[in-house]
Amino acid sequence: MRLVRKIREMQKVSDQLKQEGKRIGFVPTMGYLHDGHLSLVRKVKDLCDVVVVSIFVNPTQFGPGENFKRYPRDEEGDKAKLEGEAVDLLFIPEASDMYPSGYQTYVDVTEVSKGLCGDFRPGHFRGVATVVAKLFNIVKPDVAIFGEKDYQQLLVIKRMVEDLNFDIKIIPGVLIREEDGMAMSSRNTYLSPEERKRALILYRSLLKGKDLFQSGERKASILLKAVRESIKSMDGVTLQYVEIRDVETLEKIKNVDKPAVIALAAIVGSVRLIDNIIIGRSE
Ligand code: PAJ
Repeated sequence: MRLVRKIREMQKVSDQLKQEGKRIGFVPTMGYLHDGHLSLVRKVKDLCDVVVVSIFVNPTQFGPGENFKRYPRDEEGDKAKLEGEAVDLLFIPEASDMYPSGYQTYVDVTEVSKGLCGDFRPGHFRGVATVVAKLFNIVKPDVAIFGEKDYQQLLVIKRMVEDLNFDIKIIPGVLIREEDGMAMSSRNTYLSPEERKRALILYRSLLKGKDLFQSGERKASILLKAVRESIKSMDGVTLQYVEIRDVETLEKIKNVDKPAVIALAAIVGSVRLIDNIIIGRSE
């Protein structure tokens, strides 16, 4: 696996690969990798000739109180995991190269970024869209993959690619869970053992919503009430939002008569967690 830290070098390597007729697959990450990330590497590998993974804890997508500095980092561990997946190129840029002094250009995907996490993390999706646009111009992928774990992010990126005419195919990766059902996340490392147990209520509550849907209930308000009440029953877990949205557009829906996502965010201890489940989609 070749490690590249310089933007110019990464661009040259990608140009060379393209000249050789190679298809580049790209997995952008913020590191502290787990099986959710690695599942994306495995999926994209089947669709391209060369896999590029980036690790960059992007300062512009963290809000003032969001502790960018505390985000977990483990470069050596990440390298070993990616070597294990036979990744071809690892791109780890410096923040000072990505955002040199005088930097002033941002990408704002206006509508899809509103609501859900957008309401609780102002500026977050602007930071995400900006860094992903920059990474696309540096890595020049043919195909890039984003996890359904961050469902709104996936749709923000799809919208940006369409609106800005990036010639890149965006592929979704399914949400990967721990054995007990907890959604894998680099942030889980912040949870104490006690909080980790409490946090399981998030997936269990989403399953309650899905079960209710599968037993025939179609009213979003009733499905949401079941999820909300289930989460409320657990001490130490504060729900930020739970909503049912269209899987394609993220528009609010009243009756679930097409595939939908039940998406939520909650605070457990001092950790903000997100999770979601898709209903009405053939598996
Ligand atoms: P990060 O949180 O490191 O996630 C990188 C990619 O892994 C994202 O596409 C995310 O959706 C996916 N992912 C995380 N947990 C997952 C899980 N349990 N199952 C499946 N996929 C999972 O998301 C980001 O970084 C950043 O916002 C980024 C896109 C890199 C821009 O900075």
